[in-house]
Amino acid sequence: MVYLKALTGSALFASLAASSVIGVRQGASSLNDALVAKGKKYVGTCADGNLLTDSANEAILKSDFGQLTPENSMKWDATEPTQGAFNFDGGDAVVEYASANEKLVRGHTLVWHSQLPAWVEAIGDKETLTQVIKDHVTAVMEHYKGKIYAWDVVNEIFAEEGGLRDSVFSRVLGEDFVRIAFETAREVDPDAKLYINDYNLDSADYAKTQGMVESVKKWLDAGVPIDGIGSQSHLSAEGFGNSEGVKGALEALASTGVSEVAITELDIAGAAPDAYVNAFNACLEVETCVGITIWGVSDKDSWRSDESPLLFDANYQPKEAYNALIAL
Ligand code: G3I
Repeated sequence: MVYLKALTGSALFASLAASSVIGVRQGASSLNDALVAKGKKYVGTCADGNLLTDSANEAILKSDFGQLTPENSMKWDATEPTQGAFNFDGGDAVVEYASANEKLVRGHTLVWHSQLPAWVEAIGDKETLTQVIKDHVTAVMEHYKGKIYAWDVVNEIFAEEGGLRDSVFSRVLGEDFVRIAFETAREVDPDAKLYINDYNLDSADYAKTQGMVESVKKWLDAGVPIDGIGSQSHLSAEGFGNSEGVKGALEALASTGVSEVAITELDIAGAAPDAYVNAFNACLEVETCVGITIWGVSDKDSWRSDESPLLFDANYQPKEAYNALIAL
């Protein structure tokens, strides 16, 4: 996919603004262009309305990233805080920005145990919860139909030892909630790529990675329409969860038979250049890896801000890791 940047009118103004913010960077390219030139679909980041209207953040977002994930605004507590009363304001801001600026959108997320309203948590019977999942997935996906490249249909459903995590969904429905969510999603928007997304899938031999692999194979055999596996990749500087196992882990995830895998929430404690290069190379070297989403632009706005895990410091200056990726 090629992103054309027409330097006219307000786009020219934004581009000039961007170059003053990122003037110390080397090279004329952008992270997205660099990876697209190597055959991948995108390098993306996350944002919601507040960061889309923050001029320093927005300038980098516009020039360096080709994909956007709403950080919080499409989660259940934001979209359906009260049963049947939907609010799409926050998600609309992301989708409108993305569409005006030719960015792909990853929808995040439809069924997740966290940021889940209390009224869903309180459901105790199968029939009600099945209908509630169907209604939620249908309403949110209908609203954004045709505008979303991929949806994280279920998020973080595995426990560390590889079985299903305890949640209202697994307690009431067992693993059937996965089938219910994916079948509904496929029916509503057949063109969206449907993902199962999780964290700590950073080495092939970890129990949770193996649990994901075995379960996805089983679900694919049973006809559950899963297109992709997302590996969040919130990585450590060293030890458990470091960047060295990422390639092997992506290969293991790809071996399930899904048509694509992606790195969906990358950040790395300390942001060492080598670690970012390992993660990017892992995606480059695994054919079915379609792209990489970095979980934020500046350390200032990161959920792990005390670990300085992103490519731009709190003053929006690019770090060494950024230059290393551009030079890949
Ligand atoms: O919007 C309220 C605001 O009104 C209130 O004043 C403020 C007080 O704390 O909280 C604000 O909400 C916060 C929200 O981010 C928006 O900033 C929540 O407290 C805070 O918990 C929430 O954190 C988000 C976190 O998910 C919640 O689980 C992070 O921004 C977001 O980056 C993070 O993203 C998750 C992915 O969705 C899934 N994978 C893990 C990843 C990191 O935790």
